[in-house]
Amino acid sequence: MTDPGTDTALLDPEVLRKRALAALLTARERTALLTSCVEDPELTAQHSPLMSPLVWDLAHIGNQEELWLLRAVAGRAALRPEIDGLYDAFEHPRAERPSLPLLPPAEARRYAAEVRGRALDVLEGTALRGTPLTEAGFAFGMVAQHEQQHDETMLITHQLRRGPTALTAPDPMPARAFTGPAEVLVPGGPFTMGTSTEPWALDNERPAHTRLVPPFHIDTTPVTNGAYQAFIADGGYTDERWWAPEGWSHIRAHSIGAPLFWRRDGGTWLRRRFGVTEVVPPNEPVLHVSWYEADAYARWAGRRLPSEAEWEKAARHDPETGRSTRYPWGDADPTPEHANLGQRHLRPAPAGSYPEGQSPLGVRQLIGDVWEWTSSDLLPYPGFRAFPYREYSEVFFGSEHKVLRGGSFAVDPVACRGTFRNWDHPVRRQIFAGFRTARDAAADSA
Ligand code: AVJ
Ligand code: FE
Repeated sequence: MTDPGTDTALLDPEVLRKRALAALLTARERTALLTSCVEDPELTAQHSPLMSPLVWDLAHIGNQEELWLLRAVAGRAALRPEIDGLYDAFEHPRAERPSLPLLPPAEARRYAAEVRGRALDVLEGTALRGTPLTEAGFAFGMVAQHEQQHDETMLITHQLRRGPTALTAPDPMPARAFTGPAEVLVPGGPFTMGTSTEPWALDNERPAHTRLVPPFHIDTTPVTNGAYQAFIADGGYTDERWWAPEGWSHIRAHSIGAPLFWRRDGGTWLRRRFGVTEVVPPNEPVLHVSWYEADAYARWAGRRLPSEAEWEKAARHDPETGRSTRYPWGDADPTPEHANLGQRHLRPAPAGSYPEGQSPLGVRQLIGDVWEWTSSDLLPYPGFRAFPYREYSEVFFGSEHKVLRGGSFAVDPVACRGTFRNWDHPVRRQIFAGFRTARDAAADSA
């Protein structure tokens, strides 16, 4: 078993320089859209205590780019040393950011643009090898991913924001009802988890290592709104048997009885999506559920959440070759035919969409559409080394955070791959997360 990505094009510095430039420009286009589609007062307002004002994300994006590309890579002095503290995510929790003396919108835009102009010069003039930060353009790829991660965060803020819609996008293609098997058997045995060769993989995805995964069955598609409504209709939220103890106290304390943004109108479930109220579409993957809700649904269904290793094996293991691929469909970068990524659509595609993106065993929509909760805590892989900063992932390791995999419609391809790991607290619901379920296969395949 080997790790893919030894392909020379993937490591050619000139190819990577072009990719880094394209990734930085794509991210900035999205950032500009997310911060220009509302009036300036909306950028400084706090739409939810769970989120930063949009103007904080904007200057934080510029500040991180300055820290890594202008100061760390190019050795330049700080442009505005006095603002570093304001945009340090660890100094100020999200809820208190609106009361900080933040750069006003015009100044935040100017600052981010000034950093960007200089960063492009640095990209032009830097040999993309020789130091761990510049090797294969890593720092540039990391900064583009960071901006795209905040673009997803800003889209969450837009979803939480009240008032008329500010963003629109075409819907995904309507899919014929999926008629394939409901679940797929993933054979037991070792597979390669994580990567040591993907040039822009972040520290927590490394290194590649062998995991022994017993056989299991996994849902072919994410759990749909229709299936989730059956759980609600069956009294799922009022039956303690299905719930982890902390999940049960949480839904009691907060009177939770449906996914976030849902509201019942007579016999119909409605949801608010980017300022518009609509009937919940039954064949779309369920969105805005916490880990506790996903876990309870799975238990109600007589199943369980997949572990992180199971999810990655379903997504990357090719039983034919024994190799782990970069994506479910192989090693090629994502195209719009493979997956619903990059905010092209502002919703998941119907369950069963994207046949071209399926895994060799036929599992669909592992990449894109909805982040998928796994049963696993965020833990380091054997041999993990924090790089280039402990605060990206190391400080989050432990049982406080559950791992999410696969990316949503809101994440750009640069920040999404078969090895990419996301995480959040198990109570979180504003993120674009759903799930699929699994079950052991040992009993019927022994
Ligand atoms: C990996 C999505 C959990 O948004 O908190 C952004 C990404 N890290 N800036 C987050 C991140 C630093 C991170 N997640
Ligand atoms: Fe950040």
